[in-house]
Amino acid sequence: TYVISQPCVDLKDRACVDECPVDCIYEGKRMLYIHPDECVDCGACEPVCPVEAIFYEDDTPEEYKAYYDANVQFFDDLGSPGGAAKMGEIDKDHPLIAALPLQVH
Ligand code: F3S
Ligand code: F3S
Repeated sequence: TYVISQPCVDLKDRACVDECPVDCIYEGKRMLYIHPDECVDCGACEPVCPVEAIFYEDDTPEEYKAYYDANVQFFDDLGSPGGAAKMGEIDKDHPLIAALPLQVH
């Protein structure tokens, strides 16, 4: 799967959402999250993020390693909704993201 990481926090450019062929990039309050089971690893989202927040799981830089679990665990209580558009902004973030100070871009 692919992983969204800290540069997305408090920015949420959303360019990635338009590229995803399976609509598996879900919006939280402060960051977007890729569904690990719905993502088909097409890689279309990665180059369009203006702040390079998206990585293939094995290529995630050391400082962002915890974001793999953050993306996965975001869906613990959501299951597999099968499409982000119908969900709109989901009223939560993973605790790792919720605890961050406001990110200034
Ligand atoms: Fe975030 Fe980049 Fe997508 S800022 S919403 S991961 S285009
Ligand atoms: Fe979508 Fe990116 Fe996966 S475009 S299918 S989230 S690699």
